[in-house]
Amino acid sequence: MTTVASYEALADAEERSATIKLHGPEAFEGMRKAGRLAAEVLDMLVPHVIPEAVTADLDTLVLDFVLARGAIPATVFYRGYSYSSCISINHVVCHGIPGPKRLKEGDIVNIDVTVIVDGWHGDTSRMYLVGDVPLKARRLVDITWECLKRGVMAAKPGNTLGDIGYAIQSYAEAQRCSVVRDFCGHGLGRVFHDAPNIVHVGRPRAGEMLKPGMIFTIEPMINLGGFKVKMLDDGWTAVTRDRSLSAQFEHSIGITEDGCEVFTLSPAGLSHPPYALT
Ligand code: MF3
Ligand code: CO
Ligand code: CO
Repeated sequence: MTTVASYEALADAEERSATIKLHGPEAFEGMRKAGRLAAEVLDMLVPHVIPEAVTADLDTLVLDFVLARGAIPATVFYRGYSYSSCISINHVVCHGIPGPKRLKEGDIVNIDVTVIVDGWHGDTSRMYLVGDVPLKARRLVDITWECLKRGVMAAKPGNTLGDIGYAIQSYAEAQRCSVVRDFCGHGLGRVFHDAPNIVHVGRPRAGEMLKPGMIFTIEPMINLGGFKVKMLDDGWTAVTRDRSLSAQFEHSIGITEDGCEVFTLSPAGLSHPPYALT
């Protein structure tokens, strides 16, 4: 019999390890497939993220799309969460819960999905602009995308985890934005949230050396105001304490001999908004 409880035990069977795994070619092959499907989910959503869209309906689109491809959303039975995506609007930093809420013109929205394909986790998120969005909000989205790009550029052998954090923090703060401290990226593979933590602030040369075979996410959350966050009573939704806007992009990557491979690139070329639909 499959109960939610026994499924949860199954989902947690592979535990977070104390040390950073160095993965081989078959892990990279698995991550390529999982990452690609996760990116396809975000591509699929583009025409649906419009004014009046109900966030629970967007979540259902994600669930149906993933199941139709023989995969499952990693978040459905994850530690009491029961949705296929996190949908974080405006001042919501992360882990927004899909529900009856409707998107409105001018919103900026992060949609974060993690899929499991043949046991491998593909984890990615992007920002979406709902209709016409004010310039300051679009600017935050652009800065956040640039932060992710700079973090990915710093992810190579010879650099450290601190170099990734520094690349992100130095750019964000030069743009008078702040970097969220309370949530970070993470190792992943057959485990959803594995070692190491990928902190999005840091000092050059600090922290663990990056080595080929490491697989992790980079997922900076950048605020227009201060970096402090507050949890809502639902136990999941994190919002900015000062109610300033927050944005996030996330890629799953693997360190290679000479840089990194991004597993969650958009097959449709829709990496960041505005998403030109032809
Ligand atoms: N996808 C999120 C991440 O980037 C995790 C979401 S866990 C959930 O790590 F339970 F909130 F969905
Ligand atoms: Co993640
Ligand atoms: Co994610």
